Amino acid sequence: MTEQKLHPETLVVSQGRPAHQHDAPVNTPIYMTSTFRGGKTVDTLNDKVYARFHNPSWEDLEEVIASLEDAELPGLMFASGMAAVAAVEDLVPVGSVILLPRHTYMASISLALKLQRRGICEVIRYDLENTEQTIETMKAAASARGVTAENVDYRAPKVLMWLESPTNPMLEVADLKVLLPEAKKLGIVTAVDNTFSTPLVQKPLTLGADIVVHSATKFIAGHSDVVLGLAITNHPELRAMMLEHRTLNGSIAGPFEAFLALRGVRTLALRVERSMANAQVLAERLTKHPRVREVRYPGLPNDPFHAVATSQMNGFGAILCVVLEANAQETDAVVEKLKIWTPATSLGGVESLIERRRRHLSEPDSIPESLLRLSVGIENVDNLYNDLNQALASIV
Ligand SMILES: Cc1ncc(COP(=O)(O)O)c(C=O)c1O
Repeated sequence: MTEQKLHPETLVVSQGRPAHQHDAPVNTPIYMTSTFRGGKTVDTLNDKVYARFHNPSWEDLEEVIASLEDAELPGLMFASGMAAVAAVEDLVPVGSVILLPRHTYMASISLALKLQRRGICEVIRYDLENTEQTIETMKAAASARGVTAENVDYRAPKVLMWLESPTNPMLEVADLKVLLPEAKKLGIVTAVDNTFSTPLVQKPLTLGADIVVHSATKFIAGHSDVVLGLAITNHPELRAMMLEHRTLNGSIAGPFEAFLALRGVRTLALRVERSMANAQVLAERLTKHPRVREVRYPGLPNDPFHAVATSQMNGFGAILCVVLEANAQETDAVVEKLKIWTPATSLGGVESLIERRRRHLSEPDSIPESLLRLSVGIENVDNLYNDLNQALASIV
């Protein structure tokens, strides 16, 4: 009998389990050890020697995430999403360039700019929603650094392109189906932050990305109780370099956090399905709200990114943004009035979170002052809407 194809809803539950044998535990044990017995010659990066090099508590989530992202190599778990981002941005050698979207998670920007300040690389910003202009930027960067599809060095890429789609917090969508193959032709190594979409909604490796990064703190763990990251690639050299980075920098996950994230991922499919359905309803209702100037959500048919999102995503995610007919103080007052929504940063948990992004002084001023980012949870959608509605009534 041929093996049946396992769908993501099955993979999240059935992958990453102890061996199917009598007396085996059903769930992955938590390995609370800093070291492993042994006295023979060892390969530091591959043998179990010391828990900064390896902990079996990581393996099962690394396997689940790799199967969800359609990767052949296991993923790499990190201490946080930013630790995974750092493992990618640290790949570039002196004299390189990082192409960085105008809007992307703010710490990913800060980290690249820090590399630039230290003289390691140049950072070139681009607007990822403008495909033609982005391709011109890519061509110029590849040609200036002399990279081609034939001479790309995966151990030290001279041109690294960072992508995030949809972007945080503006929800712009990059045309990944065009940009990723174009980068491959030009010898540009690409990394996509897939945190907002999750692998259930978007699979960048299958669209041509070299690396996928997740803040597993968000949807993957799903309960706002851990900080973790993941990086996934199909290139053995890229994986080896990121593993070396993790081991040498010690940016490793604690075994208990790994356990929580694996436990969380079991319900990823259910949570994402429910949160996305709620987000769609809220986006539609909020579009008609008199206090709302703009709703940004690619699931809305008139959203400028609806067509491209439909072509590459399996759904539209559970994050939406609203720009209110209000100033910063009035927007803060709306947030204060909410009873069910939690005013907090972060996203992707079962509970709905809301945040005025410009409260972060590092958020660029191209983000409107009255923009609220909504991370839609799994609560009853009418309760969520009614709570927003009563709070919006505070705007006079
Ligand atoms: C899109 C995105 N990428 C990366 C990160 C960083 O992840 P972490 O906070 O787990 O370090 C975040 C955090 O908010 C994020 O929203």
